Amino acid sequence: MKLPDLKILDEKEKTLRLKSHEVSFPLSKEDKKTINDIITYLTMSQIKKYYEKYNLRPGMGLAFIQLGIPKNIFIIVEEVDDEVFENYVIINPKIISHSEELIYVGEGEGCLSVNREVTGIVPRYARMTISYQDIDGNQKQIRVREDISVAFQHEMDHLNGILFIDKIDKNDPFKNKDKMREI
Ligand code: NI
Repeated sequence: MKLPDLKILDEKEKTLRLKSHEVSFPLSKEDKKTINDIITYLTMSQIKKYYEKYNLRPGMGLAFIQLGIPKNIFIIVEEVDDEVFENYVIINPKIISHSEELIYVGEGEGCLSVNREVTGIVPRYARMTISYQDIDGNQKQIRVREDISVAFQHEMDHLNGILFIDKIDKNDPFKNKDKMREI
């Protein structure tokens, strides 16, 4: 596999704070290429031989805005078995419903745009159903839960210019810990 040359924006870049726009179909060739590059990058970043070789930080999700492109598209690559991956290409997502129950990642969330360790609670819905369009513009729905629900919410925040670090209480990073479930 060849590592795609992606320029991932750092948290200091103002572009990351832009609100992304709805995408119309058909997608351009360029957008399709960017989607494929992101899938390859995220996959390689989770395979030891590649992350060691290229000194990559493992990541499972990336939104177009993290490459400076303000379009409502994000990709999630989940390792479902040892070096077996499932991809989600999510375009124009909208939350249809979500659980009352909140969860948070005990180890803290990570982001390829945040190059430092940040601890604290980021409250997320335990489950949600979203509508979105696939790469051909077909309208779809998906129900997500647990870590994938967290990943979807993290990426949907990017589309609104929000980073996970914004959601951590600066003065009390573990505030309301007892009101949600750790995953
Ligand atoms: Ni992120």
